[in-house]
Amino acid sequence: MSLKDKVVLITGAGSGMGRAMVNEFLLEGARVAAVDINADNVREVVEEADAGDRAIAVTTDVADEASVEACTAAILAWSGQIDVLCNNAGIIDSFRPAHEISLHEWNRTLAVNLTGPFLMARSVIRNSMLPRSKGAIVNTASISSFSAAGGGTAYTASKHGVLGLTRQLTFDYGQHGIRVNAICPGATYTNLAAPDGGSDTLPDSETEIARTPARRWGQPREIARLAVYLAGDDADFIHGSAMVIDGGWLSAARNPI
Ligand SMILES: NC(=O)c1ccc[n+]([C@@H]2O[C@H](COP(=O)([O-])OP(=O)(O)OC[C@H]3O[C@@H](n4cnc5c(N)ncnc54)[C@H](O)[C@@H]3O)[C@@H](O)[C@H]2O)c1
Repeated sequence: MSLKDKVVLITGAGSGMGRAMVNEFLLEGARVAAVDINADNVREVVEEADAGDRAIAVTTDVADEASVEACTAAILAWSGQIDVLCNNAGIIDSFRPAHEISLHEWNRTLAVNLTGPFLMARSVIRNSMLPRSKGAIVNTASISSFSAAGGGTAYTASKHGVLGLTRQLTFDYGQHGIRVNAICPGATYTNLAAPDGGSDTLPDSETEIARTPARRWGQPREIARLAVYLAGDDADFIHGSAMVIDGGWLSAARNPI
């Protein structure tokens, strides 16, 4: 198992895909730092994982530079190294078009979804991966990295940006032993996208599912297994990729039903 005893930092670990990643990486024998802005949720995730000293919970706002630096310092004090960074924390926007959104909505969405992954990557690369010439970063992007309609103006722009970040980090650090890849999920059953959670302006779930060739939601564990694969040694030649896991949503996007 190539991930045994590796130290994995997962953001957005208090819910949905991040929560599933905590469990799947622990099953692989990794040590996991579960990071989230929601202190209660992330503590509960770690308690439920029941992994003893192989997991810790860290409360952090990924959009805040000081909070990110304190987070990586605390994890390095715990583990001495960070082998894998899963930049997974994210928020959805209101699905409204540009003329209807506030600058605050735009700024906060970009801050969490794009500046957050930059801040986390910068800190982890500087403080652990570059000095050791080793590491893997997995960014949770989206089908909204390729097309409109999976979110609103701010969300779509932020997730396009995550792919740009993934490619530039690959260009700059691949030669230093650091692999960077993106996962691009479609509609996945989490608090962010499920019909009974999030914004009341989310598209009708039946429509989303009806336009997904697989005719079902993705499950958080399915996304987490792809993260495990991309972080592990079997993916050693995969750099800068954008792995779509969407039940065929993008394939069908140009064929409205
Ligand atoms: N669910 C989907 O259909 C879908 C599809 C494509 C991409 N995504 C992306 O997947 C990722 C995970 O989302 P999810 O669906 O599991 O949602 P979720 O809401 O279940 O989980 C997101 C987690 O991120 C945390 N978070 C939010 N802001 C934060 C911040 N500033 N700092 C630290 N943590 C913060 C939340 O507290 C929450 O625990 C996100 O990046 C999202 O954009 C989701």
